[in-house]
Amino acid sequence: MTTNSSLISIQRSTDTKKKPPQDQLGFGIYYTDHMFVMDYSVGQGWHDPRIIPYQPLVLDPAAKVFHYGQTIFEGLKAYKTADDRIQLFRPRDNFQRMNRSNDRMSVPELDIDMAMAALEQLIAVDREWIPSLEGTSLYIRPFVIATQPTLGVAPSEHYQFIIIMSPVGAYYPEGINPVKIHVESDYVRAVPGGSGEAKTAGNYASALKSQQAAKEQGYTQVLWLDGKQHKYIEEVGSMNVFFKIGGTVYTPALTGSILHGITRDSVIRLLKHWGIPVEERMLAIDELYEAGRNGTLEEAFGTGTAAVISPIGEMNWNGEKLIIGEGKTGQLSKSVYDTLTGIQTGAVADPFGWTQQ
Ligand code: COI
Repeated sequence: MTTNSSLISIQRSTDTKKKPPQDQLGFGIYYTDHMFVMDYSVGQGWHDPRIIPYQPLVLDPAAKVFHYGQTIFEGLKAYKTADDRIQLFRPRDNFQRMNRSNDRMSVPELDIDMAMAALEQLIAVDREWIPSLEGTSLYIRPFVIATQPTLGVAPSEHYQFIIIMSPVGAYYPEGINPVKIHVESDYVRAVPGGSGEAKTAGNYASALKSQQAAKEQGYTQVLWLDGKQHKYIEEVGSMNVFFKIGGTVYTPALTGSILHGITRDSVIRLLKHWGIPVEERMLAIDELYEAGRNGTLEEAFGTGTAAVISPIGEMNWNGEKLIIGEGKTGQLSKSVYDTLTGIQTGAVADPFGWTQQ
């Protein structure tokens, strides 16, 4: 156990919930019996770390989070191995990214050792909630909210850091089957100098309108283009995106408006480990369509913690449809999915040191 864990008080639930069937979990529907909470105030810093029964929050309606969106979140997963051990996947990387988001949103930094201790204790308390059925995991949602009840536009002087956990199955009902993607030509997700790199609520709220319009036309998600020229590919839905063209794998470079995906980084390192050429660079949508037309576009897939790998079988850009890999899950997408989830669940050896027991 990491340092600081003895500071965390634990109040156990006396009214534990019935666990849902593991083949009907969906995503982010059920929550475990406990949650972690820690407070912050200027002068006192982060204090009063505690594990308490999962319960509603009581907040002043003037709390800044409701009005100015000063909030950030993370997403990571815990897995149960076949021999009943618990594995976390790159948890410190999530907390490091959380601090980058915190910095962008003027939220005070978290002590990563403290956050790790909180997470480890919470998982130990709710370990029975980690599902073991293939394709399931315990999704962990750490987040920070600004709680000061004042309406002046200024960084809050009070915050809460909270961790909740949810046993989950596949993020998309399609699972590892390809999804259909609508290329968004009007709205943008992020602009240079904006908050696109941060995992903050507003980025997700402002994406909903496009996502809804795409759904109405039969598409699962949208492909986001850059906010300046509407030309370069950025992300797909809430995931990073990869394309295999003529044997090389391309993913948009992290130019400031793209989330530093931990799954993105894992995929790049895995592909390089396999000797597959990977290029991080700006990739124009017309270049992608040209590759689609001339037959060199072999595969496309999104990467993220929630879905891990989500293959793209079809795209629509201003009415022009592009079928990728005959609309089927490509070999590379499948190998990456199997290997990453294998490492995460302990079924495949981890040469990278990504898993933590
Ligand atoms: C991810 O893990 O891919 C996401 O960002 C999705 C999450 C917001 C549910």
